[in-house]
Amino acid sequence: MAVPPARKPRHLAVIMDGNGRWAERRHRPRVIGHRAGVRAVQACLEFCLAEGIRSLTLFAFSSENWNRPADEVGALMKLFLRMLDSEVGELHRRGARIGFIGDRAGFPEAIRLRMNAAEQLTAGNDAICVNIAAGYGGRWDIAQAARALAVDVAAGRLDPAAIDEAAVASRLSLSGQAEPDLFIRTGGDLRISNFLLWQLAYTELWFTETLWPDLDQATLRQALDDFASRERRFGLVSSQLTEVPR
Ligand code: FPP
Repeated sequence: MAVPPARKPRHLAVIMDGNGRWAERRHRPRVIGHRAGVRAVQACLEFCLAEGIRSLTLFAFSSENWNRPADEVGALMKLFLRMLDSEVGELHRRGARIGFIGDRAGFPEAIRLRMNAAEQLTAGNDAICVNIAAGYGGRWDIAQAARALAVDVAAGRLDPAAIDEAAVASRLSLSGQAEPDLFIRTGGDLRISNFLLWQLAYTELWFTETLWPDLDQATLRQALDDFASRERRFGLVSSQLTEVPR
């Protein structure tokens, strides 16, 4: 198994938490925090492009977020729609390949159409993969991979004895991209919250009290510096880690 040295992450996965509290501290409606969160998304993307990070996966809306108060879900849908109209062109210009992961079934048709259009428009780009997790849950992801395996077995295309980790991984969201090297969660909570459960198996975890709308380059720099100082052993011992090509 190739063990990459812990220097720069190739893939950054982010839980953008704290929008609601950011707004509440200002005695403003929560949606104002989500709007401020969009600016932090832009700052994070700039940072990733400057650092040569190849994939950025953002947890925008979890499968559990559907259960939030209807007015907040409605406001988020409006914000997503507006973002898809205003940001996709610029992302395309910057060479970002956009992908959405998650169950799209619950989203309004206008959003689903724009998700598909954004993916098609940017499919040929390779500066960075921007994966937006929307209607996403790690358990959903594993369940849909299991379903895909079952379909292949039932159709006679797959021998159950051939189901190994690679077979599961190839049917998960984000297959084909390196697994996240670094996970950042803003907002102070120390949880994974049903994000990329399979894909985070050997990811370095980094948490900050900073609320998502307050995210700045210095905080991201701190995360990368901390990441660079860690020894990633992937179950091996230190002496086995030298001179492994990346
Ligand atoms: C979590 O904060 C944040 C969300 C549920 C929404 C995140 C959305 C954005 C940052 C804007 C859109 C971005 C994209 C990429 C489409 P919270 O509401 O749980 O905050 P709290 O913990 O303070 O209540």
